[in-house]
Amino acid sequence: MILVTGGAGFIGANFILDWIAAVGEPVVNLDKLTYAGNLENLAALEGDARHIFVRDDICARATVDALLAQHRPRAIVHFAAESHVDRSIHGPGEFMRTNVEGTFTLLEAARAYWGGLAGAERENFRFLHVSTDEVYGSLGPKDPPFAETNPYEPNSPYSASKAASDHLVRAWHHTYGLPVVTTNCSNNYGPFQFPEKLIPLVMANALAGKPLPIYGDGMNVRDWLYVGDHCAAIRTVLAGGRVGETYNVGGWNEMPNLTIVKTICALLDEMKPDAGGRYERLVTFVADRPGHDRRYAIDARKIERELGWRPAETFETGIRKTVRWYLEHQDWVAHVQSGAYREWVRKNYGDRE
Ligand code: NAD
Ligand code: DAU
Repeated sequence: MILVTGGAGFIGANFILDWIAAVGEPVVNLDKLTYAGNLENLAALEGDARHIFVRDDICARATVDALLAQHRPRAIVHFAAESHVDRSIHGPGEFMRTNVEGTFTLLEAARAYWGGLAGAERENFRFLHVSTDEVYGSLGPKDPPFAETNPYEPNSPYSASKAASDHLVRAWHHTYGLPVVTTNCSNNYGPFQFPEKLIPLVMANALAGKPLPIYGDGMNVRDWLYVGDHCAAIRTVLAGGRVGETYNVGGWNEMPNLTIVKTICALLDEMKPDAGGRYERLVTFVADRPGHDRRYAIDARKIERELGWRPAETFETGIRKTVRWYLEHQDWVAHVQSGAYREWVRKNYGDRE
């Protein structure tokens, strides 16, 4: 079996559903259920003995030790994190605690557990750390995409905390020999993404007839990857990635934010026309995110060359599936738009002119 952290969040939940379907091996899912964690994402596994859910904090060393001793996993796949850049600007403390101290706690627990293994169990154990392309900083318009050899230049409290966690993972391998692998991925989209992130936020606001807030000039570029492709990449790296290596994961799909928003509007016009007019009328330029990185792009040739992974979805196929999923799961969207969500919207968008 494997131990997954943060498996009730967006990518973690997609990963567990994909893992159970594709591999079928049991999963222990350690998740604190912050505002971003939602067991509804895993409703399809209710009553399935292959998914064991444990609600606790990755900083709780005693819990992590007990889970490792009891379940003896062959791998830890570490997703748990505070993940939203805007929240890290409003309140960086929780990012340092979960992303840095939490990763440190897991590494120490994994080191103690792995130190007690022998033979094939010790040989095959892996700690897979899921990280982000944001650790590399921001690209100019003509720069080549991020390779694994790019220097770390994080610019937000979120990316700085993820960069710190990547450095800890690297050091635990270099110093203690812990068998780690790190993946640095670009922007994901797909089912179960919390509507604080651009794509689900735009869909939720459009359907509610609310403004679609575009930070700055809308020309910041991200490299979009369908979440199912990310899950397949993680499975591939876990199976064959070289110990101590990092693998960049991306969609070969760079697009400015404005194009993303207009694409979603056009799909909504087609799938759920609004009597009030075309959804694009709701596009509203608002004050920029402080320190907003201009461009991210991933060079994903290493994972393709060494492990044969390439994304299966194009943006056109992935975004169509995603828009359809949100239209068919409006009850899920309504459930996550709690009082706490509305408070966040007030805090982040209330003061932007
Ligand atoms: P998310 O915010 O949707 O989910 C995070 C999950 O971690 C939630 O279920 C939350 O309850 C849990 N969690 C938070 N703090 C915890 C703690 N202290 N102890 C235990 N559980 C805790 O995040 P996501 O978008 O699914 O991202 C997952 C991982 O992938 C993160 O490490 C993120 O940095 C990385 N990543 C995300 C993207 C993206 O586009 N979303 C891209 C690249 C990398
Ligand atoms: O690159 C990988 C990263 O992608 C992950 O590590 C992060 O966890 C994930 O949140 C994501 O970070 P971004 O900041 O790129 O994602 P977000 O969806 O918040 O924003 C995408 C772009 O859209 C970014 O340029 C900011 C812009 N934006 C975002 C919001 C929420 C807007 O213009 N308006 C908005 O309301």
